[in-house]
Amino acid sequence: MIRAVEGVSLDVPRGATVAFVGPSGCGKSTLLKLIAGLLTTSHGSVLVDGQAVTRPLKNVGMAFQNPVLLPWRTVLDNLLLPLEILRENGDPRAPERAAWRERALRLLHTVGLEGSEHRQPRELSGGMRQRVSLCRALIHEPALLLLDEPFAALDAFTREEMWELHQALRLEREFTGVLVTHDLREAVFLADTIYVMRTHPGRLAYVHPVTFAAPRSMADLYSHDGTELIRQMRDEIRPPRGAVA
Ligand SMILES: Nc1ncnc2c1ncn2[C@@H]1O[C@H](COP(=O)(O)OP(=O)(O)OP(=O)(O)O)[C@@H](O)[C@H]1O
Ligand SMILES: [Mg+2]
Repeated sequence: MIRAVEGVSLDVPRGATVAFVGPSGCGKSTLLKLIAGLLTTSHGSVLVDGQAVTRPLKNVGMAFQNPVLLPWRTVLDNLLLPLEILRENGDPRAPERAAWRERALRLLHTVGLEGSEHRQPRELSGGMRQRVSLCRALIHEPALLLLDEPFAALDAFTREEMWELHQALRLEREFTGVLVTHDLREAVFLADTIYVMRTHPGRLAYVHPVTFAAPRSMADLYSHDGTELIRQMRDEIRPPRGAVA
């Protein structure tokens, strides 16, 4: 048996966003799946809202590197998918379709996709699809948003737009966020705390609070503190040649 992660112990305060960064294979996605209840721990426990996670969480939104939209459904019908799943499970939180439609349209407006609700996913660019996928992750107003390299497939400028958009969504409603990313600037822009992980087995190596006030701007990333933090984390993940790890 391989231990994917070991000795990981942390708390995520309600409403905060934490980021995990670290080399490929250090267990970031595994951690996220443990939190979501898609995997179970062999040792230790995961608590969400004080409750042990033993099965897939319901009140969670997830988005991944490649947005998975159903190609035969319009943007709006993709956004309403979580509602249909809740309905089918007889979940009492499933409100009227009209209310959800309203919510979907509001979210599309926030991410700058108003008027796109009847388009097919194939008619959208990668960045637009990723925005729809983010809306879908938030449509049921989850208390917890889990993002696994959500913007990795986007070009640098679209990615920066997505950070600002994420920030706008976060100012609009409260959710707790866990972000996995290889992009250190992204982690600094979005997270309140960044955990740098090491590999074999995956574990937490360094913790960095990020103290820039909200709303954050690109200028924060280019400030002295921003560049210094990014440089430091880069060296922690991949020590400079000649340095002893
Ligand atoms: N289903 C599995 N069976 C066996 N080993 C696995 C499985 N899933 C992940 N692993 C191993 O667990 C470790 C952590 O994998 P994980 O996918 O969490 O890494 P990661 O940090 O997300 O990497 P990346 O940055 O490349 O996405 C790796 O060594 C991987 O090989
Ligand atoms: Mg991964």
